[in-house]
Amino acid sequence: MSHTPDLSAYWMPFTANRYFKAHPVLMDSAAGVHYRTVDGREVLDGIAGLWCCNAGHCHPRITAALQEQAGRLDYATAFQLGHPQAFQLAERVAALAPDGLNRVFFTNSGSEAVDTALKIALAWHQVNGEPRRTRLIGRERGYHGAGFGGISVGGIEANRRLFGPLLPGVEHLPHTHAPEHNAFSHGQPEWGAQLADELETLVARHDPASIAAVIVEPVAGSAGVLVPPVGYLEKLRAICDRHGILLIFDEVITGFGRLGTATAAEYFGVRPDLMTVAKALTNGAVPMGAVLVDQRIHDGFMRGPERTIELFHGYTYSGHPLAAAAALAALDVYADEGLFDRAAQLAPVFAAALHELADAPHVTDVRNLGLMGAVELEPRAGAPTQRALDVFRAVLDAGVLVRTTGDSIALTPSLIISEAQIYQITHALRHALETID
Ligand SMILES: Cc1ncc(COP(=O)(O)O)c(C=O)c1O
Repeated sequence: MSHTPDLSAYWMPFTANRYFKAHPVLMDSAAGVHYRTVDGREVLDGIAGLWCCNAGHCHPRITAALQEQAGRLDYATAFQLGHPQAFQLAERVAALAPDGLNRVFFTNSGSEAVDTALKIALAWHQVNGEPRRTRLIGRERGYHGAGFGGISVGGIEANRRLFGPLLPGVEHLPHTHAPEHNAFSHGQPEWGAQLADELETLVARHDPASIAAVIVEPVAGSAGVLVPPVGYLEKLRAICDRHGILLIFDEVITGFGRLGTATAAEYFGVRPDLMTVAKALTNGAVPMGAVLVDQRIHDGFMRGPERTIELFHGYTYSGHPLAAAAALAALDVYADEGLFDRAAQLAPVFAAALHELADAPHVTDVRNLGLMGAVELEPRAGAPTQRALDVFRAVLDAGVLVRTTGDSIALTPSLIISEAQIYQITHALRHALETID
């Protein structure tokens, strides 16, 4: 059994560091849908790592691919050089995307994928003869990672507040969470498509020819699983088309099976111009992200002398051999184990289990789509987020890991979870809600 190290040097991300270090929980190992803590307790993972281990933890085929790759080629620069796996992976990822999104730029995280997508959108308008298109539009409560681009278009105030003026020329659409109209919706809310018309308002306020791109998560994840109203994404697409604005779907969470399809674009039948992915791309085993780019946009850059660099952008670890090997193995596992279909089959069970919590104490909303769900709680008077944190800790003590975001509890299990394990999670939640004030 491992021992607890000194915790002081590590400044933990998105964590209440002092509280955590006073009440640490450290994982020692994981397999399938379970962790084991350093003190030997088993924890059922209700959030697939962090919305990323879609095939479960330490999948033997991914582990084997990593071990093999680590012994053969640890690293090769991606600048003016390559290795076969990165090219194979690009082809495989493109094959899962909607038609035409068949050019792939590799990054190391979702945040980098978002910044890359924003840069490609801005640069494309330059090379396409519309250099005035520099405005970017995000959405309130959107999460697009922690880079400056991502927090500029993102709409979670706490993530933006301390960091200065951010990118200029950014506007935000309203979010779609309107509990007075759409609380306890099963799947997509019926109410709210008209909120997409706010894009027309923004377009009218600015010169439409000044707007480069709109970026949204098809289903907002980090802000507490906000499911798009029926018809909303279709409207955004139509308005973007009307005004020559690029539409970017941030599919860092929804990519690779979360909704029972390869992408949310496929699920909703709405095709973006650019798509960001990360997380489940490698099943969470090695950091990697990617931007899927419409070939028309990519080809717009492929002009000028053949020996010139077309896009001055990239990362030391773009297409890293270990990440590419993990991703190739993960995509094999998703296909061979039929995990996207499995998620689609489990989705109604997940929805039923989650909505059983509607009458539990403190619950003000339940939301779900595919294998994404959230239970929103009434905030404690004068102490927002604290009730959800108490629930989080109580279910963790009961051997189940969930995630809190504000006063919502988010659930995003691996696609290999069983029906019994789904109920283990929701029963642990009900018990916590009934015992916590
Ligand atoms: C929609 C979305 N975009 C971007 C990111 C950022 O990804 P990363 O944490 O890998 O930088 C996340 C992370 O949760 C996300 O949910």
